[in-house]
Amino acid sequence: MRKNVLIVGAGGVGHVVAHKCAMNNDVLGDICIASRTQQKCDAIIDSVLRKNHLQDPAKKLYSRAVNAMDVPAVIELIKDTKSEIVINVGQAYVNMSVLEACIETGAVYMDTAIHEDPDKVCEDPPWYANYEWKRKERCQDKQITAILGVGFDPGVVNAWCALAQKEYFDTIDTIDILDVNAGSHGKYFATNFDPEINFREFRKVWTWIDRKWVLQKVHSIKVDYEFPVVGTCSVYLTGHDELHSLSKNINANSIRFWMGFGEHYLNVFSVLTNLGLTSEKPVKIAAGVEIAPLKVLKALLPDPSSLAVDYTGKTCIGNFISGTKDNQPRQIFIYNTCDHAECYQEVESQAISYTAGVPAAAAAILVARGDWDVKQMVNVEELDPTPFIELLATMGLPTEVIEAPKPFVVPVIESLDSI
Ligand SMILES: NC(=O)c1ccc[n+]([C@@H]2O[C@H](COP(=O)([O-])OP(=O)(O)OC[C@H]3O[C@@H](n4cnc5c(N)ncnc54)[C@H](OP(=O)(O)O)[C@@H]3O)[C@@H](O)[C@H]2O)c1
Repeated sequence: MRKNVLIVGAGGVGHVVAHKCAMNNDVLGDICIASRTQQKCDAIIDSVLRKNHLQDPAKKLYSRAVNAMDVPAVIELIKDTKSEIVINVGQAYVNMSVLEACIETGAVYMDTAIHEDPDKVCEDPPWYANYEWKRKERCQDKQITAILGVGFDPGVVNAWCALAQKEYFDTIDTIDILDVNAGSHGKYFATNFDPEINFREFRKVWTWIDRKWVLQKVHSIKVDYEFPVVGTCSVYLTGHDELHSLSKNINANSIRFWMGFGEHYLNVFSVLTNLGLTSEKPVKIAAGVEIAPLKVLKALLPDPSSLAVDYTGKTCIGNFISGTKDNQPRQIFIYNTCDHAECYQEVESQAISYTAGVPAAAAAILVARGDWDVKQMVNVEELDPTPFIELLATMGLPTEVIEAPKPFVVPVIESLDSI
């Protein structure tokens, strides 16, 4: 049994993780929320208490300020709070320093996104090999449980790939991960999570086709698909974290990621990009001050967690998988839908943060119980998906499976480059 949880990061996802951990603190023990801005941690605690979500009121829920880039400070915090599980939902720049602190203290590490170097965007694939997997051997030697990318995508979608391999297919040909937010926040323009990290995703499209990395242009390949519940939406071929581990761990010919965008979003994004406002490269303004346009844009756009109160509609995220079972062709769509307003009612959050935060809390419970305390570094698809998917269904994220769904027809994807 592992106990006491340290949540690093007090953004939209940290908010949901805190609620769900509090609702399970009889298993998880004391909970500390630590972030750069302590008031944001305290606002989350207020929300948890307002919703009466502390399952065991005798256990502590408290906050700390920390600079998560400072390894000794995180080590000190882990020791001081006696945390045996660290859920890192800070900005992706802090991942490696938090992981280092876990390796040093023996605490379990988990995150929901790939590490990023602030000065590098869309590095060469596979991205996990650039930072995380370089520490795999040290985790193995020190028996550290490190679970990478345990949000929704990456996270649940990886577990669905493992489930498909375990139960639904003998051979897998294609996996298309489709992520659609069919909700409406009522603002002129906003991103559903950190705009800085979000826009850095849309620089290059690295995708896994016929067991090779193929490069394509952003938002250049579109498919209209009739989703269950949310109806027909346009999705665009996009580069994404999970491809960078699934391509190694799942035996499939092609694994692609598609994200839904409306015309308005694409128009505004294209104007911002053409003006240079999505660039992370600093520019010099009058008086000689240097500033990265993307940082200014982030400061101007709505804070994603502020969208929650008026958000309506649903998300649908699913894996369209084709292959064979018992020598017969098989196609399934394995998916979840999540309602923004229902998330707000439950935990005062929107569905994007909810779908990312609930899996991280579920993973912490599985580690605390021992099911997932594997004492090595793993991506989610390397773990047994069954207890995870069963637990998620009881925590607000049920999995649905449709046999022979509407076909997902992929156009020919030409390669601008390949590895
Ligand atoms: N897998 C998935 O499905 C999924 C989906 C959505 C998001 N994510 C990931 O989840 C993570 C959190 O997302 P979010 O939407 O919650 O982002 P967010 O709202 O921007 O929150 C990030 C938090 O990290 C804190 N932080 C940044 N640098 C820090 C530092 N040096 N020391 C301490 N704290 C620091 C921020 O502090 P301040 O408040 O002071 O800025 C903020 O509280 C990100 O890595 C994101 O990519 C994953």
